[in-house]
Amino acid sequence: MAKILTVVGARPQFIKAAAVSRQLSKHGISELIVHTGQHFDDNMSDVFFREMEIPKPTYNLEINSLGHGAMTGRMMEALEKIMVDEKPSAVMVYGDTNSTLAGALVAKKLHIRVVHVEAGLRSFNMDMPEEINRILTDRISDLLFCPTDAAIRNLKSEGFDNFQSKIVKNGDVMQDAAYFYIEKARRISTVIAEHSIPERFVLATIHRQENTDNIDNLKGIIDGLNRINKEISVVVPLHPRTRKILASHKLSPEFMIIDPVGYFDMISLLNNCSLVVTDSGGVQKEAFFFKKHCVTMREQTEWVELVENGFNALCGSSSEKLYGSYKAMVSKESDFGIDLYGEGKASEVIARELLEWL
Ligand code: UD1
Ligand code: UDP
Repeated sequence: MAKILTVVGARPQFIKAAAVSRQLSKHGISELIVHTGQHFDDNMSDVFFREMEIPKPTYNLEINSLGHGAMTGRMMEALEKIMVDEKPSAVMVYGDTNSTLAGALVAKKLHIRVVHVEAGLRSFNMDMPEEINRILTDRISDLLFCPTDAAIRNLKSEGFDNFQSKIVKNGDVMQDAAYFYIEKARRISTVIAEHSIPERFVLATIHRQENTDNIDNLKGIIDGLNRINKEISVVVPLHPRTRKILASHKLSPEFMIIDPVGYFDMISLLNNCSLVVTDSGGVQKEAFFFKKHCVTMREQTEWVELVENGFNALCGSSSEKLYGSYKAMVSKESDFGIDLYGEGKASEVIARELLEWL
């Protein structure tokens, strides 16, 4: 019987896997999950498996908190042993983290077919570790699930028509998760009451390496969010990377910082906020799913259709531009009715395609 070995490790991958694993199981496809351990705090990892009822990983490699080379290398060594033992029919990886690249590279060298979910995205910024991971993963993948037309265009312009891989446009699996879990989140999320979050607030997240590891960028962002916070409360569920860096530089922002929240609380915040400000890939799209405008604290985005349609504004890390973008977006009205990401059917497309392809 065909068996998929799925490699996950970081928070956004648990959310994507929640949607896809449900459909694999529904379609009778056998799956085994390997957690690399890249994210490991309860509120960065286990909470998603519990809340979203993701099948328990068969293996947890517990590899984290290392430089890029050591992290990817150790993951590869451990994954190789597992793939040799388990002999999966294909290995599935998500997105663009070090766990993604490690899983794809090991599988390909063992001549196991690689399936990449969220393929074809590009920022065209080779300084981003994610850009390196996604380009390399795409190149060695056999089946590439692209969320958008832009992703397909990127692959075509890189010559993928001449490669032996198969490209399928499936939409965005995060939209499946958002639609599937929002009713339950509405019923059980307590985050707003728990933190006395006011009726109008801006939801912000910050964790991108280029924003946290460059102190000038981080100070620009904090300054901009402090300024916005004087007009409307800014609430930040803070990624541990950013918390560590704020502490090491003794920076104390004026806005509300809370611990990272589980998915139900996060989509409840997204659903109730007035505006999203983020440097996250996933959160940019989720803003759109919940009909919120978004200000993205980056110079580029992979989700270009959000900018092209006026739902998202890029502001980089300058305090001035961040404040200006907030002003432009906070009371903007848009029709969010356009289908950009497959309307919650992306995981089903994956399962159906795998049934034929495996
Ligand atoms: C990683 C991904 C990034 C993705 C992000 C999602 C890479 C190169 N980066 O970045 O693409 O957007 O995940 O959140 O793969 N930490 C904790 N507890 C945790 C998780 C992390 O304390 O549960 C700390 C680590 O010890 C480390 C820092 O956060 O000091 C960064 O973690 P790491 O996994 O290296 O990168 P992320 O910034 O999380
Ligand atoms: N998220 C969450 N709790 C938080 C912050 C984010 O559940 O405190 C979710 C968010 O809704 C999205 C995913 O985590 O589904 C995005 O992960 P992240 O921003 O860490 O990574 P990226 O998408 O940038 O790779």
